[in-house]
Amino acid sequence: MLALVLLVALPCTMVRARPSLNYLEEPYATEPTQAGSEEVRSDAIKRLLEVFGMDDPPVAVTHRRKQPPQYMLDLYNTVADVDGVTKDPYLLEGNTVRSFFDKLRSEQVEFRFNLSTVARTEKILTAELHLFKLRPQATLVLNRHHFCQVSVYQLLDTSKSNNTQERKLLSSRLIPIHSNGWEVFTITQAVRSWTVDEGSNLGLHVVVRTLGGSPMDLKLIRFASGRNHHQSKQPMLVLFTDDGRRRSTTPESADPDNAQDTAILPQFPMASHESPRSARSLDQAWEEEGASMPCQRLPLYVDFEEIGWSGWIVSPRGYNAYHCKGSCPFPLGQNMKPTNHATVQSIINALKLIKSIETPCCVPDKLYSINLLYFDDDENVVLKQYNDMVAGSCGCH
Ligand SMILES: *[C@@H]1O[C@H](CO)[C@@H](O)[C@H](O)[C@H]1NC(C)=O
Ligand SMILES: *[C@@H]1O[C@H](CO)[C@@H](O)[C@H](O)[C@H]1NC(C)=O
Repeated sequence: MLALVLLVALPCTMVRARPSLNYLEEPYATEPTQAGSEEVRSDAIKRLLEVFGMDDPPVAVTHRRKQPPQYMLDLYNTVADVDGVTKDPYLLEGNTVRSFFDKLRSEQVEFRFNLSTVARTEKILTAELHLFKLRPQATLVLNRHHFCQVSVYQLLDTSKSNNTQERKLLSSRLIPIHSNGWEVFTITQAVRSWTVDEGSNLGLHVVVRTLGGSPMDLKLIRFASGRNHHQSKQPMLVLFTDDGRRRSTTPESADPDNAQDTAILPQFPMASHESPRSARSLDQAWEEEGASMPCQRLPLYVDFEEIGWSGWIVSPRGYNAYHCKGSCPFPLGQNMKPTNHATVQSIINALKLIKSIETPCCVPDKLYSINLLYFDDDENVVLKQYNDMVAGSCGCH
């Protein structure tokens, strides 16, 4: 990825870097010392972290890695393919999904989630409380009720505010008594208020009543708790947010289906009908560049294990960013998808009308987003989408 960034930034005549991040380990010509190369490497990794929107790599997860929530794994597999490339850019409303486990681990149906890892700039689009309803105990099944009313309340601080209200109703629903599985309650407003004032986060309280409104036996209606039940059934808060990073600007970059037909550019025909003069200058240009192949898309695998990030990244293990390489000499075929500017530049270069005008550059002309599923500093699992990470096709520009 970093190689890709550098490749794009360099003039195309200088594109000689090897298509692997291995080259990070090699010292630059100007810094031949071991110390210099270490510095370059750590600087490069830091820059790469910045691309992924982080200042430092998340800590304290490598040694006791937990199993990510199944919900997050399923979400990731819905949004991304095996390489992490976004399948459908319109599936997620924002670009970040965060999951939190309950910190209270209470015997009561009470929960609290620590949202300290949510950035202040992050816009909360939706917040959901996910509770796993357990099957009623067999001895208690003979009950005349078929439904119960489950209500989620936000606990309020009575000492601070003027009102005497202890709790505020956030969400309420009828649930079949005999059901089991995940129940989801939307509690967006409460979570928004917690991110504004962290101190107001006193937690959530769940109340189960009969249809008549009287309290229900909590032995009959049970939700899994973080304390007594398997990790896969733990109460969870899921936030869908947008961290404000820009959305992709090119509409085509949101269409992976088009990648296939333009991915590998066919060999373009040699200009044999050209005048001897321009044919000669063409040959010279090719020799000067040392490139004999036309502009095309080639693999560039970014291996997270190689970079040392496999401890906190759940998926993918790496991804193919691809890179663009090759020459863009006159005449530029339509398969090179040249801009008018590139066409004129290649003509000026071929005619040698003006000295020191290079041929156009072989660069990505379509970019796709990738998704990362990772553990954050607080061991919460996060899904994030990053734009413009994979070269979908290459062209002469
Ligand atoms: C939330 O987590 C952060 C970081 O782990 C910690 O510093 C903070 O004290 C926690 N807040 C509460 C209310 O537990
Ligand atoms: C508190 O309540 C009193 C009387 O109900 C009211 O006059 C006052 O404006 C309230 N203060 C705030 C901060 O809401």
